[in-house]
Amino acid sequence: MPAFKQHPMVPQTTHDEQARQDFVSALRGHLSGRLMPGAYQVYAARVEPAFRSKHGRGPKDEHEVRHAMTEDPYYQFWSAMQRRSQELLWESVIDPTERQLPELIDRARTLGKRGRGKRRGTLRLDPKLVVPKYHTAADIHLQPGGYHTDFTADDVAAGAVYDKGINLYMGGALGEENNLTGDTLLAYVREKHPSLKPRSILDLGCAIGNSTVVWARAFPKARVHGIDVGAPVLRYAHARAQAMGVAVDFSQQNAERTDFADGSFDLVLSHIVLHETSKSALTRVLAECRRLLKPGGLMLHLEIPRGRTDIEKFMHNWESYNNNETFSRYMTDLDLKAETIKAGFAADAVLVDEFAPKLDVAQMNYTEHFLWKILAAFKR
Ligand SMILES: C[S@@+](CC[C@H](N)C(=O)[O-])C[C@H]1O[C@@H](n2cnc3c(N)ncnc32)[C@H](O)[C@@H]1O
Repeated sequence: MPAFKQHPMVPQTTHDEQARQDFVSALRGHLSGRLMPGAYQVYAARVEPAFRSKHGRGPKDEHEVRHAMTEDPYYQFWSAMQRRSQELLWESVIDPTERQLPELIDRARTLGKRGRGKRRGTLRLDPKLVVPKYHTAADIHLQPGGYHTDFTADDVAAGAVYDKGINLYMGGALGEENNLTGDTLLAYVREKHPSLKPRSILDLGCAIGNSTVVWARAFPKARVHGIDVGAPVLRYAHARAQAMGVAVDFSQQNAERTDFADGSFDLVLSHIVLHETSKSALTRVLAECRRLLKPGGLMLHLEIPRGRTDIEKFMHNWESYNNNETFSRYMTDLDLKAETIKAGFAADAVLVDEFAPKLDVAQMNYTEHFLWKILAAFKR
């Protein structure tokens, strides 16, 4: 795996903290690489046959698979360990973050004022923003306080915790700057829309700006905005981008309704965001994308694959039932094309696509089966 690239906003680890993070990483690698495939074998070898002999037919959907699988001791063991590994993951990154939080906040303030390159990025926060209930009702993927909670003034902890946390979560497969999601969507654009040269780009749900920076580097002449509902991730994103010398304008806004003028952007994007919203929010986000696009502009959303067979869908939706990715299971069979048309896009301007980026060998282990889902639509 590519080593995680240190930048000034990443908390340093002591020997013991590093050993703990290494343990979490190895445990998660073992669980997903060695034990999880066993759940598929157990399903084929005993769970599905037992269901068939009891009901005279196989399970009819992912929900019947779920009822059968959650009774199985092998699945129960893997699931309990997976849940515990997620809790350990946050614990292992929260401790070094808490220990260094005053310094990280100071550094963010200093970096925020510093300009490198031709243009400095900006940060605009809105203390009055109402964070949607789909973030406040439960800590998404168990991250304490989610993306939005300020535990202290000018907090950046959620950003620091998320940055290192997702690196461990994916065993490094997101790349040295957690850049895989941005790189994947960029590779899609390069392949499918090679002549696209956007002058204005908006990244919705940018969190720490890990994907936003990819676009700002790829299109250095474009004005690039990143928005998110979480203030601490945005403070971190701004400081991180400044430290990298990349100009991005970050602002705290809800993607369901922003304050940008109609037709502000050539390209509106999101990376693994939609599944963390809600059914009604999704419709509003898609309509907002349409409002924000210039005529001829392109909307692109990268989403996590949700599986094809019922057992694959059930295993993907472990995250939904056990890791507070609440809405993601409702996305499994959602007709994204119909939702996009409902939001005002013309039917023949919408495409629900699949895409697998060409990965370097180091990343293949974790992500070779990833056929990302991409929702693409042009504004007429
Ligand atoms: C899984 S993170 C994705 C981060 C980043 N885009 C990436 O490529 O890794 C989802 C982000 O979307 C943000 N988000 C979710 N709903 C949002 C909304 N309605 N408006 C703005 N941001 C939102 C969350 O706060 C979170 O930071």
